[in-house]
Amino acid sequence: MDLYDGYNRKVSYLRVSLTDRCNLQCFYCRRDNLVLYEREEILTIEEIKFLISVFYRNFGINKVRFTGGEPLIRRGIESLIEGLRDFNLSVNITTNGILLKEFARFLSENNIGVNVSLDTLIPEKFKKISGGYDLDRIIEGIDTALHLGIKLKINTVLLRSVNDDEIFDLIDFAFSRGVEIRFIEFMPFVNEFIWRKYFISEDEIRDKIEQRHKLYEIGEDSSIARYYTLENGAKIGFISTVSKPFCHNCSRVRITSDGHLVLCMFDKFSYPLKQFLRPKIKENELVEYICSVVKLKPKGYIELREKQASFPMIKLGG
Ligand code: GTP
Ligand code: 5AD
Repeated sequence: MDLYDGYNRKVSYLRVSLTDRCNLQCFYCRRDNLVLYEREEILTIEEIKFLISVFYRNFGINKVRFTGGEPLIRRGIESLIEGLRDFNLSVNITTNGILLKEFARFLSENNIGVNVSLDTLIPEKFKKISGGYDLDRIIEGIDTALHLGIKLKINTVLLRSVNDDEIFDLIDFAFSRGVEIRFIEFMPFVNEFIWRKYFISEDEIRDKIEQRHKLYEIGEDSSIARYYTLENGAKIGFISTVSKPFCHNCSRVRITSDGHLVLCMFDKFSYPLKQFLRPKIKENELVEYICSVVKLKPKGYIELREKQASFPMIKLGG
């Protein structure tokens, strides 16, 4: 049985946040006074595996992405990934890359697609954005992953006067490694003042790029990114939630690490699933519950903008 929301959009892509902890503290993602989940609140690896299997067996989802916080710091991620080997599913992670080098072989052996967040190529700036010192380690992780044949993409959140001077260097970095880079518009998950200060629109970035390069649009329906090639063949994408929302063909739902179903990043509601897992599993009721609450998936970003998202970015995993 396929799963459709109230606007007749098919749900086929499940994003699962494995932890709300992160080994970086990017200023645009973290929140002050964030209360982290207690250990007993978060789903166990077995429970996560079970929830994915419920979506897979009952609703035919074809893609899973593990997010965080930082998914690679979640204990047991290896057994979770190994437990999905027999599923005909595209399994992916979005990582900050700090632990990518250590995990690269395992990820490659299990055919895991990897999106790496990389906002700057300058160590001092990396420290300012993320509080971390490990930019070299991330780049080594990317190179190791590519060497092992991992399908990899780079995600860059562009921030005005922070990294918008590095657009060409970042494009070159990706192109020289044969990977695509996607520039992400900064979404308003932080306070309005910070968001306005740093937000840059896709149009402004494209104008900048077009001062040096011709951009040729390539249509790719299955992605939330809009893609272009440069005359040298470099492929770049834009994920432009704010200026060009793409909610009309959204196929995603999310599960937070404490077991809430989130139907849209900007939704102020979320739906607790743990009641169907603890103290004992009630699969039929869970399936019915998912079918009914999915109908409540909001239409999209434009309709929800002024509302309060229920989870901060760090707990939602993007
Ligand atoms: P692919 O599966 O490779 O297309 O990756 P993805 O874009 O689905 O996932 P990724 O985790 O790499 O996210 C890239 C950016 O897109 C991040 O900034 C996410 O926050 C953002 N993003 C992911 N899903 C959604 C969504 O449903 N809506 C919006 N507006 N942004 C999203
Ligand atoms: N707007 C856009 N992207 C964001 N990310 C984190 N916070 C935001 C935001 N406010 C990105 C991270 C990572 C992905 C999971 O989401 O940089 O690439």
